[in-house]
Amino acid sequence: MTATIRLRTVNLNRSPSVVNHLLKLLSDDEIDRAERFRFPRDRRRFIIRRAALRQIIAKEVGTPAEHLRFSAEPEFGRPFLAVPDATGLGFSSSHSEELGLIGLGASARFGVDMERVRRISDFAAVATRFFTPEEAAAIGEAGDALDRFYRTWVLKEAFVKALGQGLSHPLDSFSVAIGADPPHLLSAEAGDASAWHFRLFKPAPGWIAAVAAEHDPMATLDLRSWSFDAFPC
Ligand SMILES: CC(C)(COP(=O)(O)OP(=O)(O)OC[C@H]1O[C@@H](n2cnc3c(N)ncnc32)[C@H](O)[C@@H]1OP(=O)(O)O)[C@@H](O)C(=O)NCCC(=O)NCCS
Repeated sequence: MTATIRLRTVNLNRSPSVVNHLLKLLSDDEIDRAERFRFPRDRRRFIIRRAALRQIIAKEVGTPAEHLRFSAEPEFGRPFLAVPDATGLGFSSSHSEELGLIGLGASARFGVDMERVRRISDFAAVATRFFTPEEAAAIGEAGDALDRFYRTWVLKEAFVKALGQGLSHPLDSFSVAIGADPPHLLSAEAGDASAWHFRLFKPAPGWIAAVAAEHDPMATLDLRSWSFDAFPC
């Protein structure tokens, strides 16, 4: 079966000469954003992931990467492709440290989120503060609690991105069942919880990611790593 949502990982570690080359693909707005990063490493990673997003979409829609234009929904800022318009292409992106993740789909009603799994000591307190009591209880304190915490986190962020609201949507207004395969929504304040589908996956050793999609069971996941088009360097 053909996957409806395509997922591409991007290695965000590139040499300065490659970054200088990729910078030429970006718009003035993106260059302004890049310049606002305090640390050069974050600036470089931003340039690489935006250039990757452009090349990945460019291949899909047949428009040169540097001619694409993005805009953002007014209320919560979900980005969308403005030029060329009416392509019907949806996208969602995430990054964590030196890895980027880009999802492409036939609708905007999906979201991806990814995190580098790092040992954090106060994750139980974070879960109690931001997740629902059911989720905090499901994470628990057993040996794999940190893993359950991260799974909950990426599933919830993927869902609020799919809604287009990001963290403006309260994370404790819905619950996800992380123990189920596939995970699913246990409760949501509004809408039909059964319309939403979730997948968890490991995009690379040490990272965890989730995709949430409305009306799309995602029977298969098309996950690949992305390589930039050839360029002189
Ligand atoms: C969206 C959000 C959850 C991102 O989480 P994060 O862990 O910081 O970063 P990630 O790398 O996982 O995701 C970043 C991507 O999310 C996407 N994104 C941003 N806002 C989004 C939204 N409202 N809905 C869906 N996706 C969104 C963008 O593609 C962004 O990529 P970019 O940096 O290249 O523009 C978080 O930043 C957020 O909630 N932002 C605020 C939304 C908001 O309330 N805006 C207020 C007015 S504009």
